[in-house]
Amino acid sequence: MITSYDYTLASLCDKAGIDVLLVGDSAGMVMLGYENTIPVTMDQMCMFTEAVSRARKDSLLVSDLPFMSYQASIEDAINNSGKLIKAGADAVKLEGGSIMAETISAIVDVGIPVMGHIGLQPQTTMLSEGYKVQGKTKDSAMKLIEDAKELEDAGVFSIALEMISHEVAQIISETVNIPVIGIGSGVNCDGQVLVVQDLLGMYDKIKPKFAKRYMNLSEDIVNSLEDYRRDVQTGQFPSKENSFSMNEEELKKLREQIGS
Ligand code: KIV
Repeated sequence: MITSYDYTLASLCDKAGIDVLLVGDSAGMVMLGYENTIPVTMDQMCMFTEAVSRARKDSLLVSDLPFMSYQASIEDAINNSGKLIKAGADAVKLEGGSIMAETISAIVDVGIPVMGHIGLQPQTTMLSEGYKVQGKTKDSAMKLIEDAKELEDAGVFSIALEMISHEVAQIISETVNIPVIGIGSGVNCDGQVLVVQDLLGMYDKIKPKFAKRYMNLSEDIVNSLEDYRRDVQTGQFPSKENSFSMNEEELKKLREQIGS
């Protein structure tokens, strides 16, 4: 699973055979430059979802419900889940443990598949505690295991586990009968998810320890842009191959007419 927010990168993720594209609300940070995911709106999530849905052919498309699009009422949660499905998502993801069970059941009951998200929850825990590993004590680990079971009972088809100690993630994966997808939660999850900009080395503001950089694209992009700037300034771009020419006879007539 990998995050996707735009047509171009989503096409490449789909082509690479990635099973699940997640239109994460991390879009607010990596695409829109917000400090965190709190300001992200439903309209923005619908726009990103539409772009990714135009690109994907084979992958499953999951879209995040942004902050305050599902917490205030079950009606909000169902209406906003419906908006993401109409924008092209196959399923929605929302943050929260047992406290969200009733909301999840209600969304699932109207026929919309839901993915859960526990552990570090950028819409809440991140704001109060910062980027802190979850489930390091017996009690907090028990809470996570209980949360996972309640989400499964509520009907989620999968759960994202964010920044949970790998031992607890393994217990959760062995306890529930649905796939758990880890991000910073060790190798014993059923699948893994990363923010695409982290994987490609395009976002330097935060460099999570758990994210593996497969390339340093920002360096290549900056080098290419500098080459372009230099070529334009020295007249090396555009060359003849990048230009279009007029019919010679027509050009001659034009010059005669304007006297040049
Ligand atoms: O928004 C996001 O990027 C997420 C992560 C779990 C990948 O929800």
